[in-house]
Amino acid sequence: MARKKIIAGNWKMNMTPSEAVELVNTLKPLVANDEVDVVFCVPAIDIIPVMEAAKGSNIQVGAENMYFEEKGAYTGEISPAMLTDVGVKYVILGHSERREYFAETSETVNKKMLKAFEHGLTPIMCCGETLTQREQGVTMDFIRQQVKVGFLGVTPEQAASAVIAYEPIWAIGTGKTATTEQAQEVCAGIRACIAELYDEATAEAIRIQYGGSVNASTAAELFAQPDIDGGLVGGAALKPDFGKIVNYK
Ligand code: 13P
Repeated sequence: MARKKIIAGNWKMNMTPSEAVELVNTLKPLVANDEVDVVFCVPAIDIIPVMEAAKGSNIQVGAENMYFEEKGAYTGEISPAMLTDVGVKYVILGHSERREYFAETSETVNKKMLKAFEHGLTPIMCCGETLTQREQGVTMDFIRQQVKVGFLGVTPEQAASAVIAYEPIWAIGTGKTATTEQAQEVCAGIRACIAELYDEATAEAIRIQYGGSVNASTAAELFAQPDIDGGLVGGAALKPDFGKIVNYK
């Protein structure tokens, strides 16, 4: 069965709640496309207003992060139950910015993965190499390690429902998109890694996105690749251009 494309925006630390509502109202008619899953991953404080504004549309709302404990003395964190209580379905985990600025490791990402599944959330687990790693030829070794640790203890059924976002760090926010060949090669490598960890059926089911300077002119070629099942979009998700990315065909 063909995998349904999933095109998600990662708003990062942008948009106040009132700006968020305005943006959803602008984008709502532009991102209408039932052939793909459209997800807006937004700052925690924007989740409820965005959900209200998106009502009746095809927009699904996701979070950008989540903690791996149920509740308690973890000042500033958001729990999985807080997300599911308001209807959130997706959560980005292990974005490179969280790994770099907030000391997240593949081990903490793994704890978050297990907790997300326990609560019925679909994780969008990010992985990706630095420019140095690419230049040293260790891209796939590094990404395989991120995927293997991230998926420790995840069942085949859970893995089949997950989303992995391949985001080369050197392509994020730089305007420097990976070439279609580079993106396809790594996404195929990630799928092969899932096949080794699980089986062919799981590898065929899991959705793998590309992220890193995706824009309206690069989306169509990227998303046409056999192992690229959509995109995780930063900057361009805050603009009407996101409508063109969602309707890339
Ligand atoms: P840009 O699309 O702004 O490069 O960001 C990509 C990203 O980090 C999405 O998670």
